[in-house]
Amino acid sequence: MSEHEHNPFPDEGNTGHIWDDNLRELANPAPNWWMMAFYASIAFVIGYGLIYPMIPLSDSYTKGLTGWTAIGEYKASTAEVEAVRKPFEDKIAKMSAKEILADPELSAYVEASGKVIFGDNCAACHGAGGSGNPGFPVLADDDWLYGGTIEQIQTTITNGRQGMMPKMGGQQLTDAEIDKLANAIYNGTVTKEPLYTSKGCMGCHGPDGKGMAALGSANLTDGIWRFSESDQLASIKHTIKHGVNDASDPETRKPKMPAFKDKLSEQDIKKMAVYVYKFGGGK
Ligand code: HEC
Ligand code: HEC
Repeated sequence: MSEHEHNPFPDEGNTGHIWDDNLRELANPAPNWWMMAFYASIAFVIGYGLIYPMIPLSDSYTKGLTGWTAIGEYKASTAEVEAVRKPFEDKIAKMSAKEILADPELSAYVEASGKVIFGDNCAACHGAGGSGNPGFPVLADDDWLYGGTIEQIQTTITNGRQGMMPKMGGQQLTDAEIDKLANAIYNGTVTKEPLYTSKGCMGCHGPDGKGMAALGSANLTDGIWRFSESDQLASIKHTIKHGVNDASDPETRKPKMPAFKDKLSEQDIKKMAVYVYKFGGGK
């Protein structure tokens, strides 16, 4: 109450608010640079509000002089992309996968645009770039279970695949016979093993042991393992003993390639066939 009358610091420009004898509030102006930034930011807000949409109203908003909107810009740029893609997509729709492959421009387009479809639908099982995962076949090689022509690949993706091999342990083969067959397969000499013919392996894996695309029966002679494990000999024995997708054996292997005919459009399946073929198709 008495500070105003008895300002002990009269010449320093304080506001006259003094506490505890000497704690006082000064009336210094803000620095120039600060004031300029302050006015500039006000000018910016006004300018921004004139140009861009800004203030929400009860059922609308201030639109700004340019009429720009984020969603409008998004739509315009998607339309631009669509316009670039459309001629390609239209051509692809009328062509078979094989014809697309034969056209360098279109197959380059599919290679670029198929990456996202592959990433969203296939990479979880087959690995990025088709590099494979334990239990899921590598697509980026020229070793095919179900055949590597463009038509075969397209059929695989459309309808899915599920290899079947009956379990051979128990009544079919003794453990000693399984050992013999497994070692012969491991060493790449299975077709010379008499059990291969007498126990019916040949019927599915073929006289040359190279498998049959119609059945997806693996090539047993090339050292590329469909079911690969750190102890490969044990893995081979396991497959022979318990089979593949044999519902009567709980330890059977259970690979399943899902059908995509209800999940992807025909157009996208075609693209995926071309995309996968370019990894290493042909045979
Ligand atoms: C849920 C896992 C899964 C997904 C997702 C999946 N696949 Fe497969 N795919 C498999 C399995 C397992 C096999 C092997 C089937 C077998 O051994 O009988 C396979 C086999 C294949 C084959 C045959 C390979 C050969 O050697 O003949 C092709 C081609 C293929 N997949 C392509 C694709 C494409 C393209 C997609 C995406 C559109 C896809 N797959 C998505 C699991 C999957
Ligand atoms: C009814 C057909 C059928 C018969 C009979 C059959 N297999 Fe198979 N076999 C398959 C199929 C199909 C696969 C691949 C399954 C898959 O990947 O989906 C396979 C896979 C294998 C594999 C796995 C190869 C790898 O790369 O990991 C081995 C090993 C094998 N068979 C050995 C044999 C032996 C040995 C016999 C005879 C005792 C035999 N098979 C009889 C259909 C058969």
